[in-house]
Amino acid sequence: MDNLEFNKAAAAVLVAGIVFMVSGVVASMVVKPQTLHHSVLKIDTGASPAAAPAKEEPLAPIAPLLASADVANGEAIARRQCAACHTFNEGGRNGVGPNLYGVMGRAHGGSPGFNSSAALKGKPGPWNYEEMNAWLKKPAAYIPGSRMAYAGLNNDKQRADVILYLRSLAATPLPLP
Ligand code: HEC
Repeated sequence: MDNLEFNKAAAAVLVAGIVFMVSGVVASMVVKPQTLHHSVLKIDTGASPAAAPAKEEPLAPIAPLLASADVANGEAIARRQCAACHTFNEGGRNGVGPNLYGVMGRAHGGSPGFNSSAALKGKPGPWNYEEMNAWLKKPAAYIPGSRMAYAGLNNDKQRADVILYLRSLAATPLPLP
């Protein structure tokens, strides 16, 4: 191979290399690789939109449901969901939360011998049915800063049952609304 032929060959290799590099750069400018920000696959958790109402949705009054509420079912729910922190019998001990005998109609945070939070005690007036409804639906929303670490009972019917049970924890239960 004479010198000129060698130069031509070398130039060809060089040009091929440059074209290869430039095309790589151009290609990456033209085709922008996109990474996914969200998973394309949606995992169906089974929760329908109706099961999670918007935050602002006003709470329907509990009074109409109390008339047909089931006190025994309320007690069963309370034993399952509240008894880790509360007792219900007259003179029962306070636990993580106060004894709940006689709570309906009593002042917020008025359970004797229990060190209620300032947030709970700061809520004016006695516990009535609608307030108890809002509290049990979502404690953190009804009294921000309360110490009751309980997410809430979402089912309206079950809440009515529990409230009717709380009402029964008294020598003379509060009149029904
Ligand atoms: C993880 C523990 C825990 C669970 C579970 C729990 N509570 Fe409570 N509850 C508390 C605590 C703690 C307080 C006191 C809150 C404060 O002082 O801010 C409280 C306060 C209350 C009060 C207010 C008492 C008063 O003197 O004003 C009511 C009513 C009540 N709980 C009902 C219930 C019911 C009904 C359930 C079940 C559906 C329940 N709680 C589940 C811990 C709990």
